[in-house]
Amino acid sequence: MSDLPADLLADYAHPDGPWLRANMIASADGAATYEGLSGGLGNETDKLLFQALRPMADAIIVGANTVRIERYGKAPVPMAVVSRSLDLDFASPLFDGRPILITVSDAPRLAEAREHAEVIVAGEGAVDFGAAVAGLHRLGLTKLLCEGGPTVLGGIAAAGLLDELCLTLSPRLVGGAAPRIVRGPALEEGMSLAAVRQDGDHLFLRYRRSS
Ligand SMILES: NC(=O)c1ccc[n+]([C@@H]2O[C@H](COP(=O)([O-])OP(=O)(O)OC[C@H]3O[C@@H](n4cnc5c(N)ncnc54)[C@H](OP(=O)(O)O)[C@@H]3O)[C@@H](O)[C@H]2O)c1
Repeated sequence: MSDLPADLLADYAHPDGPWLRANMIASADGAATYEGLSGGLGNETDKLLFQALRPMADAIIVGANTVRIERYGKAPVPMAVVSRSLDLDFASPLFDGRPILITVSDAPRLAEAREHAEVIVAGEGAVDFGAAVAGLHRLGLTKLLCEGGPTVLGGIAAAGLLDELCLTLSPRLVGGAAPRIVRGPALEEGMSLAAVRQDGDHLFLRYRRSS
C-alpha cells in the first residue's frame, strides 16, 4: 500500500515565511541508525522524500559528524555544516559548492575554513543555534531543512527553533546502543501531528510545533 509519492511535493510545501524543518528517520524501537548509518532504515520512498525536501529549502543544516560518517557531497541548495572542530576535509566534493560553515569564534582552522566556505560565527565554545539561524536569515536563507544528526537536532530543539519534524518510521527493530534522533538536554517539547502517510511498512509522519 502506498499513498505517498503522487502528491509528495505539494503536501510538503513550506509555509510562507521563515521555517525550520527537520527530516529524520527512526526504527520502530527508536534507533536513529542501523549499523551506524541511517540509510539502512529507509526504503525507496524515504530516499525520494529526502531528495524532494532538499530543493524546497533555501539551505540544509547538518552536523559535522553526519557529514563525516555519511560522506556528504554537494546538494541542490547550500549546505550549512555545524562544527566546533572544523575537522572537515576541505578537498571533499562538499566544498566544491562553497558551503556555509556554522562555527565558533575560538574554532581552530578558522582562517583556512574561510578560504573554502562562507563562515558564520555563532558564539564562543559552542554554537548558539539562535545566532546560527539568525545568521542564515541575514543571508536571505529562511526556509531551513535540518538533516540531523541527533546532536544538531537536539541543539535546535533545545533552542526552541524546530517548527516541523518530518519523521519516517521504519519497521526495523535495531536494539543495541544506537542513538535516538534527538541527543542533548532533556526537552519538554510537545508537537502536534500534522500528517500521517504510509508506504508499505514505513510510516511518514509530520509533526508541527504546537501553537
Ligand atoms: N536517523 C536519521 O535521520 C539521521 C540523520 C542524520 C544522521 N544520522 C546519524 O547520526 C549519527 C551522527 O550524529 P551525531 O549526533 O553524532 O552528530 P551530528 O549532529 O551530525 O554532528 C555533531 C557535530 O556537530 C557539531 N556540533 C553539534 N552541536 C554543536 C554546537 N552546539 N557547537 C559546536 N559544534 C556543534 C560538532 O562538530 P565537530 O565534531 O566538528 O566539532 C559535533 O561533533 C551518524 O551515525 C548518522 O548516520 C541519523
